[in-house]
Amino acid sequence: MDNMRAGLGLQHIGIIMDGNGRWAKKRGLPRKYGHREGAKTFRRIVEYCDKLGLRYLTVYAFSTENWKRPEDEVNSIMQLLEQYIDEAFERQDENDTVRTRFIGDVSALSETLKEKIARIEQMSQGRTGMTVNVAFNYGGRDELVRAARQLAIQAQQGKLDPQQINEQMLSDHLYTSGQPDPDLIIRPSGEERLSNFLIWQAAYSEFVFMDVLWPDFTPAHLDQALEIFSRRNRRYGQV
Ligand code: FPP
Repeated sequence: MDNMRAGLGLQHIGIIMDGNGRWAKKRGLPRKYGHREGAKTFRRIVEYCDKLGLRYLTVYAFSTENWKRPEDEVNSIMQLLEQYIDEAFERQDENDTVRTRFIGDVSALSETLKEKIARIEQMSQGRTGMTVNVAFNYGGRDELVRAARQLAIQAQQGKLDPQQINEQMLSDHLYTSGQPDPDLIIRPSGEERLSNFLIWQAAYSEFVFMDVLWPDFTPAHLDQALEIFSRRNRRYGQV
């Protein structure tokens, strides 16, 4: 499948990894088992997207709202993240070209996680393959508030004339600064909402909602989403 190189013009995909809880419930298992399977799917999809030649993949792994879940579930997601990073270190070799970045407020995470996140970002930053943005303790509104605050501080210090603030400047203060906006956002599990994911960046994204739970999501589902995307006619407000 060489869709992307063959002129789909697609550089960035966002995925809301939804449906782990329901996957577990259907099997009579605790929700954390759904997240464990979801983490496996995440690895497979990263590998597949990199193979396809995609430049950016952003996955929604933990939202600013997810802290309200039971402690045991929150802890299990933190553990899965830690495992993912540890494994990324274990298998690092010249063939691994994926760059891992985190978007969101990682300052609220444990010292161990913060340290591992900093290490993996640093270890992979020179890589030239696909960039994976892991949205963790991420919220789109929170991201915009932070950008507004940073611009206000610059204005207050006399470094910026508020009249000069434009869309580009705001974009430059988001976590995704310097990256193209997502062309396509995929949400499995049957829900059809953005749930505070990349709300600024998604202004012109195509949305594909799919009736499959994230742990069951395969590269074939991604192909299917790409196929739907390729049939859409993106006009960016023009005729
Ligand atoms: C949404 O499903 C999923 C999450 C809140 C967590 C996503 C986490 C992972 C896929 C694994 C950990 C991440 C990494 C980076 C290894 P849900 O629990 O809301 O499902 P439901 O809607 O069926 O209840």
